[in-house]
Order: sequence, then C-alpha cells, then structure tokens
Amino acid sequence: MMDAIDALQVPKGVVEQLKSCLEQALVAVFGEAFTGTDPMLGPTSNPKFGDYQSNAPMALAKRLGKAPRAIAEELIQQLDVSEFCLPPAIAGAGFINFTLKPEYLEARLSAFQVDDRLGVEAVKKPKRTIVDFSSPNIAKEMHVGHLRSTIIGDCIARILEFQGHDVLRLNHVGDWGTQFGMLITYLREVCPEALTTADALDLGDLVAFYKKAKQRFDEDPQFQEQSRQEVVQLQSGSKETLRAWNLLCEQSRKEFQVIYNLLDICITERGESFYNSLLGSVVEDLEKAGLLVEDHGAKCVFLDGFQNREGQPLPLIIQKSDGGYNYATTDLAAIRYRIREDHAKRLIYVTDAGQANHFAQVFQVARRAEWIPEDITIEHVQFGLVQGEDGKKLKTRSGDTIRLRDLLDEAVDRARADLESRLKEEERHETEEFITHASQIVGISAVKYADLSQNRTSNYIFSYDKMLALQGNTAPYMLYAYVRVQGISRKGNIDFQNLGSEATILLREDAELTLAKHLLQLEDTLDAVSQDLLPNRLCQYLFELSQKFNQFYDRCPVLQAEEPARTSRLMLCDLTARTLKLGLSLLGIQVLERM
Ligand code: ARG
Repeated sequence: MMDAIDALQVPKGVVEQLKSCLEQALVAVFGEAFTGTDPMLGPTSNPKFGDYQSNAPMALAKRLGKAPRAIAEELIQQLDVSEFCLPPAIAGAGFINFTLKPEYLEARLSAFQVDDRLGVEAVKKPKRTIVDFSSPNIAKEMHVGHLRSTIIGDCIARILEFQGHDVLRLNHVGDWGTQFGMLITYLREVCPEALTTADALDLGDLVAFYKKAKQRFDEDPQFQEQSRQEVVQLQSGSKETLRAWNLLCEQSRKEFQVIYNLLDICITERGESFYNSLLGSVVEDLEKAGLLVEDHGAKCVFLDGFQNREGQPLPLIIQKSDGGYNYATTDLAAIRYRIREDHAKRLIYVTDAGQANHFAQVFQVARRAEWIPEDITIEHVQFGLVQGEDGKKLKTRSGDTIRLRDLLDEAVDRARADLESRLKEEERHETEEFITHASQIVGISAVKYADLSQNRTSNYIFSYDKMLALQGNTAPYMLYAYVRVQGISRKGNIDFQNLGSEATILLREDAELTLAKHLLQLEDTLDAVSQDLLPNRLCQYLFELSQKFNQFYDRCPVLQAEEPARTSRLMLCDLTARTLKLGLSLLGIQVLERM
C-alpha cells in the first residue's frame, strides 16, 4: 500500500498530476514545440465515462493535420498513468477518458489517517505574500463593504498560510488626510476634552461629529482654513495635534477590534499614516522616471487606456497644487514599500469593485516606474455589493446604514432563536453555556459562509433566513454534516483516532467511490483557490462533500456493517469530518461537536 504513495514523485493533486502526465506525453509524441500545450483536462460530463477527460486531441487536430482519434491513440501509447488510473479510454470524436483506480484511492485515503494535512502538501517554495484587507477608515463606521473585505481577505490569507506561504495580513486603515484637520478643528470647538482624554467619545459620537465637521467645512471658509492649518500641524508632527489624532485613532481602533474579535480575525494595522514620510520620495521617483507632468499646478501621471468624457487622456494626480497628496499617492508608496522593504512577491488587495479603476491606475503607474519586477504579481481581488432583500443597498428599516456590530448581533440572536425552538421541539435540554456558544458559532458562520459561497465578483442579497437555513448551501448545513459524523462516533462508542494501525479503506460501493474521489480533491481545490482567489470554490467543494457523504450514509450501513467494511466506512466518516473541519477552518469557520 505505501509503495504506491512513495512512487508518487510529484506531490500534487490528482488533476495536476494527470495534467503533467499528459503534457509530457504531448511533448514525447509530437515534439518540443508542444511544450506547455494545455492538455485540456476537466471532469467528465457524465461519471459513466470516468472521472476526467482530456479534449486535447480535438483541440490539436487542425494544428497536427490528423484525426482526433488518431491523435488520442498515439497519446495513449505514450501515457503512463497506470499508478493512479485504469487504462485510459478513447471516446466519442476523440476524448481521452480517465478513471481513478480504486486501489490508488484506497491507498491514498488510508494514509490520510495519520496525516493532519489530509494529503495537501505544503508548497516547496513559500511566497512572501501580502493580503491587504478590511481597511476601514478612522472616525467612520465600518460598513458592509469592509465586512466583505474582512471575510474574504481573511479566508484568502488562511488558505495561503495553510499552503505554507509566508503571509503578512495588513490593515490599510484610512487614518490620515484632510478629514482629521476638519475633525480636530471641530472638536476643539465643541468637545475639547475628546482631544486630550481617552474614552471621552465613542465611535458613534465620532461619526456624528465627523458629519457635522464636514458640513461646517463645506459652508464656512474660515473653518476650512483652520482645518487646513490643522492638517499642516499634523503632517509636521505637532505634539498636541498628534496626541489628539492618536486619541481619535485609538477610539476607532477599539471599535474595530470588537468586530475582529467577533469574527476571529488577525490583522496587523499599518494605516495610511505609516507612508506619510515616504510620499515626497514617490514624487521624486516618478519625476526621475520621467512620468510626471504638471497640469494646472498639480503633479500628474497621464494614464494609458484611461480617458475622460471628452476622450482626453486621464491624469492620476500624485500631488495636488496645494502640495497635498491623494489616496493613490499613499498606495504608490505602499506598493514600493511592500516590494522593497517587505520583500513581498505577491501583493493582494481586497476591496469592492468600485475601486477597480483606482487599483488599475496605481498598478499601471508603479509598473511604468519599474517598481514591479517580473517575478512579482499584484492583484486586485474585487467583490460586488451586499444588497438587502429588496435588491437595494442594505439598510436598516428606518433607512440608516447598518452598523456591523448590529448586523452580527442579529445573526447570533436569530441563530439562538432557531436553536431554542428546535430544542423545545425535540424536548432536549442544554445548558445556557452550550446554547450561547452554539448560537455564536452558527450566527457568525452563517454570515461568513453566505458571503464566501457566492462568486465574490457578483452582488449578493443578504438574507438571514437563507443563510441560517439548515438546508442548502449554508453554514448550518455544513456544520450539521460534521455533527452527524460525531453522532456516529458517540452512538457506536467509536474512537476515530484509534481504529487500529491495520485499518484500511476499501471501496466497493458506488457511493463509497464517489465520496472517496471527492475526498481526494481537496488539494486541487485549494490550488485553484490560491490561483484565482475565489473562495466560493472551496465552499462548493465542501457542500458537495456533505451531499456525497449524506448519500453514502443513506446507502451504506456503517455501524451495522460487517468487518472489514465497518472499519473502512468508519474511516470514510472520519475523513469526511476531518475534511469538513479543515475546509471550514480555512473559511474562518469553527465546527461544533453537537448542535
Ligand atoms: N480605506 C479604504 C476604504 O475604506 C480601503 C483601503 C484598501 N486598501 C488600499 N491599499 N487602498 O475604501
């Protein structure tokens, strides 16, 4: 059994292995010119035909001037996939179909019994990666856009970390700029103690003051001038202004931390202010690179491929005519810093799609300034809007923007109400501690899962009822599948950790094979997510796993089965539970042993 595993030279997911076998065969048969040709491998349209199929013979027919079936014949001659597949078969006009060997599945899965990583190898070359996510603004409420960024960014970071990458999670909070001039000037007038003592205000007050300050700023030229002076004080490091600024940041930070604790988020704050002293040299660098142009007193870079309404090239303002800097300038400084000082090789930014142009522009300027060497990737991971059930922007009933804390509290309250009514129905008695813990996990998981299970690029409708449903692609459904397995172990008094060293997995029934094949796809799934950064792929994988497990469990007796099927099936149950637990943990979701 171990031989088959040891012989696997390339520790990759099955799909990746099949792909590289096909790639090699293509080169061996048709020559070097076919290096890097896409083997066009995908799942078969119907499990009847096997597990995977390659469409390469058809795609290459024209180029090779041969019939697809003839190409398929030649490829099959060269292909050696006997370690993990039954002999490949040619079908239809010239597909090559592959079916995984039961013995291979049995050997791989049996080995997972003592493998906490469930077959997922850590990458050989860890990449220094920065995930810039969450990033709310000081003195403003965190909104649902920040919630999405927080949930998606955390999930991406977890997956890359699990793969073995060296991830720096950065919170690029908006903690600098003209708004602080306004706010400090206003508070000096109406609430001076807020500028000298901690906890004089909470974030709610701060947000209200911020609105009023903005109003004054727009109406009152004298106030405007004072605010500008205050910004100058801040930038030049005046002690008193800095102290006030620090207090305001501290106040907001506390509030953000409440949300991060609720969501179990780890993140390092490195806000816009961090880059303040580097902004001047951004201008210098761009000047040296010959990219800067003066336009109405502002220093700009004219962008390729971006035009204003009149069809004129669009400038990105790097330094305003009054000497001030923009959001984009800070992001330019951040890119340079992350590459040169943090030595990041992959830079990821998680924000709403509304910032797509901002990032495209900033990336373009950084590229043209030659700050981004070829081996470095920079990606904007964008997401759509969160909508209310009416399809409009999510609001409270009275039309106000929803506070994140209220939104999360409500999810937990509703999870609690659901649980309590279920307990009553089932006449079950549970401790207050159990109920509180379970509702907390279910409520928060439901919010996270509802977000992550959507393709992030589309908008999604926020519905407590849908996300808390026990059926469907929801967190409760997934948590329940896990609980079901734990129930088997309790019922049969089974210690999954001690099924004996001789225990092996035997796959005889279709439902067992289907489940086993799915269990083996975790690595390929995580690979795919780490490339296109679409967490919904992992959700879909776990959802299908739960479904396939439920089918297996309906069709194959477990505790009642005879040996050796009994032990094998218990192992499949345990592997399913462990895969769910691991997969959910990568989504930032904890499991429950009972619910
Ligand atoms: N603070 C910004 C906002 O609330 C998000 C910052 C995203 N990160 C970045 N490096 N620009 O919209």
